[in-house]
Amino acid sequence: MIPFIDLKAQQKLIRNNIDKRIKKVLDHGQYILGPEIKELENNLKSFAGCKYVLCCSSGTDALLLSLLGLKIKPGEGVIVPAFTFASSAEVMPLLGAVPIFIDVKLDTFNLDPTKLNDAFETAEDMGIKVRGIMPVGLFGQPAEMDLINDFAKKNDLWVLDDAAQSFGGKHRDKTVGNLSEATATSFFPAKPLGCYGDGGAVFTNDKEIYEIAKSTHTHGMGKNKYEYSRIGMNARMSTIQAAILLEKLAIFPAELNKRQIVADNYNKNLSISNLNIKLPLVNKGFRSSWAQYTIILPESVDRDKLQKYLKSKNIPTAVYYPIPLNKHKPYNIYPVSKSGLEVTNFLSKHVLSLPMHPYLKEDEVKYITGHLSDFINKQ
Ligand SMILES: Cc1ncc(COP(=O)(O)O)c(C=O)c1O
Repeated sequence: MIPFIDLKAQQKLIRNNIDKRIKKVLDHGQYILGPEIKELENNLKSFAGCKYVLCCSSGTDALLLSLLGLKIKPGEGVIVPAFTFASSAEVMPLLGAVPIFIDVKLDTFNLDPTKLNDAFETAEDMGIKVRGIMPVGLFGQPAEMDLINDFAKKNDLWVLDDAAQSFGGKHRDKTVGNLSEATATSFFPAKPLGCYGDGGAVFTNDKEIYEIAKSTHTHGMGKNKYEYSRIGMNARMSTIQAAILLEKLAIFPAELNKRQIVADNYNKNLSISNLNIKLPLVNKGFRSSWAQYTIILPESVDRDKLQKYLKSKNIPTAVYYPIPLNKHKPYNIYPVSKSGLEVTNFLSKHVLSLPMHPYLKEDEVKYITGHLSDFINKQ
């Protein structure tokens, strides 16, 4: 089977360095908040070009810590796409806040800025005070943050970028991590920059957001260890994960280039054959970290049958996401923007993600796209 994501190929390249890094942690024994955490935070700051980075226990906790840093209050609303992973929306109700679901764009899969006003008005009409917007850099490309930030500024809102999938991406001259008041990313193993367990980070240029998030991630700690200034949690990253990430971050820029080459190969192979497949669009001046390579199938194609056929050829595929978030039971009580979720509903039925990782070879891409084309041509 062609791996959907090949973590072994990457590990082979850096295994010696990772072993050395882990040995160092075992030798110094500072498993919690060891020196590798600061070192990683400093390297992530340089990479993203922002003032503050806080490493933490997961991407979900990074979102939660960011929301707390942004001082969200119970009953307040946050506009979030319905076409995303559960974490983007689950953090709001966990804090008593309200997700307001908005549609995405067909070509980029990201929050549609032209629909922001409708989502905003929907919430305000229901008496919900909107405090912020959470765009998601789905599949690797950041959302159109310039337009989103403009709308936010005009309406006195903050923007929290869910960059769990888009870390490593770019928005014109700016790097993800530096596009809004706060950014949260995930280092889940399958992410473009992943560790060997759970991990995440908060990025911000705002000292107060950073300090609240930092205190909260260690039980609400104040100036001293057993002095508490707020209700907190235990959301620290373990030192061993930071040690692993330091080695992975060192090869991350090269891997991003490799992912782009794989995406280019897919685009080339899938656009020449007259297949009627919609390819993922990367906006001019943007860079995707290609967390996923996701296509939109022609409506005539039976997606389940195609997945079974490809599996029989040892080609794994995935559907992100088969059910819009607002249709799941825990979420169906929350408001949907009055302009509806037409694109979200369409995408959930017709998207398909193909194997994607930096070490996917040109002939493997040819093999995958060849079988995909064969199936569609036989329809
Ligand atoms: C869009 C999005 N947001 C948030 C998360 C949460 O990250 P984690 O699994 O590290 O908690 C994920 C992870 O899959 C994600 O895809």
